[in-house]
This record gives sequence, C-alpha cells and structure tokens, in this order.
Amino acid sequence: MSITLLLFLGVAFQLGRTAAQTTVTVNAATTYQVIDGFGFSEAFGFGSGVENAPAAQQTQALNYMFSTTEGAGMTILRNRVAAAPYDTIEPNNPGSPSATPTYSSIGDDSSQVRIIASPAAMFWSKNARAMGVKYIYADAWSAPGFMKTNGDYINGGYLCGVTGESCSSGDWRQAFANYLVQYLQDYKSQGINVDFIGFLNEPELATSYDSMLSNGTQAASFIPILHAAIQNAGLSTGVTCCDAEGWNAQVNFTQQIISAGAEQYLSRITSHWYTSRGKSPINTSLRVWETEYADLDDAFSTTWYSSGAFNEGLTWAKLIYQGLVDCKLSAFLYWIGAQSDSNAAGLVTLTGSGSSTQVTASASLWAFAMFSRYIRPDAVRIGTSGSPSNTQVAAFKNTDGSIVTVMINSGASSQSVSLGSGSATSAKAYYMDNSVSSPTGLSINLSGGSIGATLPPYSVVTFVTSTSSETGTAVVQHWGQCGGQGWTGSTVCASPYTCEVSNPYYSQCL
Ligand SMILES: *[C@@H]1O[C@H](CO)[C@@H](O)[C@H](O)[C@H]1NC(C)=O
Ligand SMILES: *[C@@H]1O[C@H](CO)[C@@H](O)[C@H](O)[C@H]1NC(C)=O
Ligand SMILES: *[C@@H]1O[C@H](CO)[C@@H](O)[C@H](O)[C@H]1NC(C)=O
Ligand SMILES: *[C@@H]1O[C@H](CO)[C@@H](O)[C@H](O)[C@H]1NC(C)=O
Repeated sequence: MSITLLLFLGVAFQLGRTAAQTTVTVNAATTYQVIDGFGFSEAFGFGSGVENAPAAQQTQALNYMFSTTEGAGMTILRNRVAAAPYDTIEPNNPGSPSATPTYSSIGDDSSQVRIIASPAAMFWSKNARAMGVKYIYADAWSAPGFMKTNGDYINGGYLCGVTGESCSSGDWRQAFANYLVQYLQDYKSQGINVDFIGFLNEPELATSYDSMLSNGTQAASFIPILHAAIQNAGLSTGVTCCDAEGWNAQVNFTQQIISAGAEQYLSRITSHWYTSRGKSPINTSLRVWETEYADLDDAFSTTWYSSGAFNEGLTWAKLIYQGLVDCKLSAFLYWIGAQSDSNAAGLVTLTGSGSSTQVTASASLWAFAMFSRYIRPDAVRIGTSGSPSNTQVAAFKNTDGSIVTVMINSGASSQSVSLGSGSATSAKAYYMDNSVSSPTGLSINLSGGSIGATLPPYSVVTFVTSTSSETGTAVVQHWGQCGGQGWTGSTVCASPYTCEVSNPYYSQCL
C-alpha cells in the first residue's frame, strides 16, 4: 500500500514537472526576412550633449548605444540631411534649376554644433562606424525652400516638378537629386560611406520644422531621378521611401510607388509608427524598416515593468517583437539615442553638467539590447514551434551559424522551457526583468543538446546557441581571436566563452 502510494506520488510529481515545462523547437529550415539591424537618430543636434560631455561620460553614452557588451549594440544610425538656410549645404538659390549651385562645406560647421545638426551627425557617424555600426541612413526632411512650391523648407509644400506640382521657377527634381549626391560626397570625403538615403520625412504632414509633402505617386516621379544621379556619381547608396508618419500611410505610398513602376529603384521601404503601428507586413519585395518611433509624451524611465506603460522596457521589447514577427521588419529604429533631456524620446539621458554629468540608460535601451546585441546584421529570422503561456518566441540565425532565440514572458508567473532540437553544443542566455538593471546572464542547463531554463515573470530571455550542424567551423579557445576587421577565421568560441569586441580590429573569446 505504502509502496504503491510512493510510486503514485513519484509519477504524479514527474507528470507535474513535465506538464509545466514547455518545449520550444527552432526550425532553421523555415526562413523569413533578413535582419539589417536596430538603430536610432541624433538629428537636429540632439546628440550634441554627448559630443560636449567630458570624455568619460561621452564614452559611457557611446558604449550604451553601440557596445554589444555594455550597451544595446545598435547597428544603424539615422541622420538628418539639413534643409534650413542656416544649416543646409545649399543655402542660396542659384537662380534656376539648371544654374550651377554653390555648395557650402559640410565640414565648416564644427564650432556651431549646438545649433547645427550636420557636424553632430558627423560626430555620431564617425563614432558609430568606429564602434561597428553597419548602416548609416541619411534622411532629408525637406528640400531647400527655393526648390519647393511654398518657397520654404518648413510648412510642407511640394518639390517643384513632382506629379501635379509645377513652379514658375521650373522643375527642381534633378537639382534636388544633385544636391543629395553632393551631401553623400561630402560624407564620403570625411571617410563615411552613407549606405541609404531618403528624401522625405512624414510627407503626410506640414510642420513648423523641416517638412515636405508627397504622396507615393509624387515620390515615384522623383525616385528614378535620384537613383540615376547616385549611379552616375559612382556611389552605391540605396534610395529609401517614404518615412511616413504611420504604417497605414506607408502601406498606401508603397502601393502607389509599385503602381508607378518605381519600386525597382528603391533599396528599402521605410515607415514610422506614430499614427499607426504595423500589424502585418507591407506588400513589397523590398526589405522594410521601421525608422522612427518613440514615446514622445512621457518622462524618461528606468522602469522595466510596472503597469505596461509606454515608457517601460518590456513594452518596447513587445513592440520590437511586433515589428520583427508580425510585420517581418528588417530593422527597428527608435527616435533619439542619447540626449540631454528628461523625456522618453531618447533611450539614454544626460543630466547635470561638466564632470558631474550623469549618463543614464532607460529600460527601453535594454529592451533593444535584448535583440540588437545578439541578432547581428544579416541574420535571418527562422521558424519556431511551441511557446509557454503568455510567452512570445522568435528565432534568428546569425551569419556565424549561432542561433538567437528571444522569449518574452508577459505573464506574472515564471515559465519553465526546454529549448532545442537536441543538437546544441554550447548555449548562453541573458535576461532582463525587474530584478536586474541591465541584461544579465541567466543560469541554464544544457543536457543532451537541449536547454532547460526558467523564464522569470515579465521578462525577456535571449538564448544564444551553437549547434553541431555548424561542425566544420573550427572553435576558438579561450583568449583566442574570433573577429575584427579583415578576420576570416572562425568566429565561434569554445563553450562557455563568447566572442567579445575589444576594438574594431580585434575580437576575443572571453
Ligand atoms: C497623388 O497626388 C497627385 C497630384 O496631386 C494626384 O494626381 C494623385 O491622384 C495622388 N495620388 C493618390 C493615390 O492620392
Ligand atoms: C490608404 O488607402 C485606403 C484606400 O484608398 C484609404 O481608405 C485609407 O484611408 C488610406 N490610409 C491612409 C492612412 O492614408
Ligand atoms: C501585393 O502586390 C502584388 C504585386 O504588386 C499584387 O499582385 C498583389 O495583389 C498585392 N497583394 C495585396 C494583398 O495587396
Ligand atoms: C537544472 O537542473 C537541475 C538539476 O536537475 C535543476 O535542479 C534546476 O532546476 C535546473 N535549472 C533550470 C534553469 O532548468
């Protein structure tokens, strides 16, 4: 009798454990979109607080944005192509669209960094590149005023010459394309290749700062001209469109561009999420980026989870997930990276001044880190099956063969998971929840090629695993080189070490 009871209890105990543990399987044979990366902007001189900060605080802020060990490991920087008479490279009307323009030097503005965006962009662009950023994206909010129907770089107005908009001064489309090419060449002369260029920002809106109106058909009447000008200049910069204020408008713009036959001249479709967030993919053959979104209303916050408010970290992890999974985005960008303001429009804030400047990371920065540190450019999103209750799961395969699985547990209970198909040879996991102030190693069990782990309540857990299917890839031992500019050797570290960037030229298994 007592033996039977013991056996019965033993079985019940085991069943209980088994039922509570959910198996998640990654299926690398099912592939979705390629990931270009994650990023932010420092437009309108928002980043000048970092440029003017003491060296230690400057390093801290740059590390928060770009380091894969101390920060978010961002890989995309979005710059503004300035259009105001006081900060554009073409402040004066040359007289007509065909007259030779007089461009002012982009590099002459350094002393005016507080009010001039371009040198701040240069500061950020140079540091971003040095710290591993893959893509620099330049975006013109407007053409210079003399090229537009309203004669001003603000308050909307159209580019003279686009569909349905003519000006007595003539058709300025080629002149605007030439101007953007000049901007690209200025950056190139500073050693910075601009990977993508956009020529609109929220073209549904006329605002009191740089703005230019357009619909998709009108954009399509300029896109081939810009594309040809870039090609003729021997540059490889890709053209993007249209940075609409909301996803629904960008869905329409994209369809209009396709109908006009101009999709072939674009490299990326770009949209903001302010007036409408994406819920499903945009119908296009191009990679799609969410290029600007932020909490513009609330205070800067270091709260990971409290009530699910817009400025909390877990909220942003779920938004990034919605972009990557529901909308198949290739990139997700926040509005401002680091700034000297106490609102939630920036991921990092600088307070105080001089040597007492405090640099603080928001919980939203750490939400980005849970993706961007581990899912590196050119990774491919892959299939998964199974998910614990209240938990969202997405997986990505990096070019080095490592597999990144992100799990977001939005529930109040912890969740026990078994991850893998039995072929993991090494694994690490990191988590963010209310108990930690930055991504922290999570203790996991690796046994028989599968990982056992517990997802804390209201957490994001990111697993990085190497599998035996990567055999043929040599494994680098502790302290060995595993990356850096020009490195062609193995980038896979022997367990339990990970490849960490020491500088752009040297990464080491630590
Ligand atoms: C875009 O604007 C042009 C010029 O005003 C107009 O002819 C066209 O109908 C508009 N397209 C859409 C889809 O609204
Ligand atoms: C997109 O186009 C549809 C169909 O023309 C229209 O009903 C809708 O209002 C448009 N949405 C936006 C945000 O422009
Ligand atoms: C998606 O685009 C293709 C090609 O432009 C078109 O044939 C198809 O009807 C579109 N689908 C939807 C759902 O809009
Ligand atoms: C790891 O395995 C040990 C021994 O079976 C177990 O006590 C522990 O709960 C496991 N940890 C996780 C995170 O699954």
